[in-house]
Amino acid sequence: MANASAKIIARVEKLRQELHEHDYKYYVLAEPVIADEEYDKLIQELLDLEHRYPELQSPDSPTQRVGGTPTKEFATVEHNPPMLSLANSYSEEEIRDFDTRVKNVLKEQPRYVAELKFDGIAIALKYRNGILAQGATRGDGTHGDDITANLKTIRTLPLRLRKPPKEFRNIEVRGEAFMQREDFAGMNRQREAAGEKLFVNPRNSTAGTLKLQDSRIVATRAIKLFGYSLFASDAKLKSHFENLQIMRSLGLPVNNYVCQCQNIDEVIKFWKEWEEKRDTLPYDIDGIVVKVDSLEQQARLGNISKSPRWAIAFKFTSRKAETILNSIDLQVGRIGTITPIAKLQPVFVGGSTVSRASLYNMDYINELDLRAGDTVIVEKGGDVIPKVSGVIKEKRPKGTRPFKMASNCPVCNSPLHQPEGEVSYYCENAECPAQVRGRIEHFAMRGAMDIDGLGEAIVGQLVDLGWVRNCADLYSLHKHRDEIIGLEGWGKRSTQNLLEAIEESKQRPFHRVLYAIGIRHVGQGVAQLLTENFTSIDMLQAATEEELQSVSGIGPQIAESVAFFFKEKHNGDLIRRLKDAGLILSAPTSKKKGKFTGLTFVLTGTLPTYSREEAKALIENNGGKVASSVSKNVQYVLVGEDAGSKLDKAKKLGVPTIDENQFRKMIE
Ligand code: IVH
Repeated sequence: MANASAKIIARVEKLRQELHEHDYKYYVLAEPVIADEEYDKLIQELLDLEHRYPELQSPDSPTQRVGGTPTKEFATVEHNPPMLSLANSYSEEEIRDFDTRVKNVLKEQPRYVAELKFDGIAIALKYRNGILAQGATRGDGTHGDDITANLKTIRTLPLRLRKPPKEFRNIEVRGEAFMQREDFAGMNRQREAAGEKLFVNPRNSTAGTLKLQDSRIVATRAIKLFGYSLFASDAKLKSHFENLQIMRSLGLPVNNYVCQCQNIDEVIKFWKEWEEKRDTLPYDIDGIVVKVDSLEQQARLGNISKSPRWAIAFKFTSRKAETILNSIDLQVGRIGTITPIAKLQPVFVGGSTVSRASLYNMDYINELDLRAGDTVIVEKGGDVIPKVSGVIKEKRPKGTRPFKMASNCPVCNSPLHQPEGEVSYYCENAECPAQVRGRIEHFAMRGAMDIDGLGEAIVGQLVDLGWVRNCADLYSLHKHRDEIIGLEGWGKRSTQNLLEAIEESKQRPFHRVLYAIGIRHVGQGVAQLLTENFTSIDMLQAATEEELQSVSGIGPQIAESVAFFFKEKHNGDLIRRLKDAGLILSAPTSKKKGKFTGLTFVLTGTLPTYSREEAKALIENNGGKVASSVSKNVQYVLVGEDAGSKLDKAKKLGVPTIDENQFRKMIE
């Protein structure tokens, strides 16, 4: 490989500087100066150069934002000083007590800094020589996980500081990582469409995301961050308020809503103001944090056990109210999930009137023993979504009965199904009117059939007109060409474009079609796996749960969902129509042809010389497949030492078993 010339090195550095500058303007200042396409061009050029000249790769390159090789385990990082937590206060009285305690120690009135308390995940970032060297979770306060690769994907976080003066090149910044409510909701919509488990609130989804081992997935989630503490041993720091300005000037994201307060009354004013305004922010806050501004005074106050004596959280009062639960209704979601909904006597809580709240699933209802007619407590948590959090049993009227799940869908009357091991019930009819829009939107989505121009509004219009009831109807939409042209907002050109995009989508490969039809638990990865192992829709339709499970990576939940989907009559009709329309419903035959083409192996026990990964790679590189459990579709079971139940099963089913020596001979 050629060495990079001075010209190339200079170009790479220039690209990096430009991209850092654009990241800062776009993500921190929210003032982009170039179009997205221009940005993409620059990053592509840099990626190409780094690929061609690997010696130029660097941990602070903007290309690091897209994530890298997955890690198996996070290394442990020690926090020095430890990451403390804050004591809580909930009332004016408690915050005045805090002020008194502080003044008793200091013998003077301190100035306070009041800032928002972000409801996210605490993290610590180390910059070495101006470059982000390490990022970690709080863990237990003294030891956390090294999640540097994940944190580097956060766009607002500088990978190198902006023109740091000498004393600020080696610093530690602590702050809060979080997700905005909108981004969280969007992510959950996508997860619902793919039948994946939903996150409960933005905080949990931030925690879950930052613990992912694959930073490439982290890069697709919109995590944000605010810095709130600075450590710089080479600098003479004086005040917390100044530290926030310093962090800002170094290009770090720092929240704007900070107040320097001369006394506790001003702090209380700030608290009241944000209690009112909290819902206007795009992210969740659960209170304010009050800190003594002077670092010298902070040092004099010190810590009590694990909390500083110079700071306190001043939480917002939880927003609760009592009301009557009129009824429990059922709502059918975009992929058929049945969600019980509380219909409430309207009640004013935390700034708005609440008349309905999700009850999530039967477990939630049973746990609280909720019954129609009950007096219940309605609460608005940090995420602003109202919840029924309790029942006042003393107020229960006579004659109430425990809630029972209906046996049929409230919209289409199909029987409801509760998969084994799941808490939710589902309507399995893909043509259920309640699901139609959502399913078609998912079908047309990028990553699925990618039908350009078929967005939410147009799907709604086509469904309302009765021209499209399921995704197969899209392929006969051309019959309505003239009628569409005549619709308001439509013309010849736009109709033609839409019909062409639909026609063009027939070229999508099998795995995309399988993902697009929206089988619960079948996301893009699972669809790929299924189509690699069941190479046509007929094979897939005919597969039993056991056969599905024999594919490594397909567990019982997915297997049951796939088998159940194909059993539903409407779904069978749908597949037939998609086939008639000419969609690709089989996979191209495997490119890797070899000695093992068409053969499936199962591995069990410890082999004398090959590791499991090596044996698997040998089989796959020779065109074979590896399944995780023995069935009659398996040709060989490769047996090592301490083989368990798989060996017994092979014997029972009469599947040939081989040892490593025999396996070696087969390859030679
Ligand atoms: S300062 C010693 N400032 O609240 C002071 N914390 O237990 C350390 N938090 O784990 C924290 N917003 O994750 C500080 N503006 C803010 C904050 C904040 C949220 C979190 C932090 C900490 C928890 C308090």
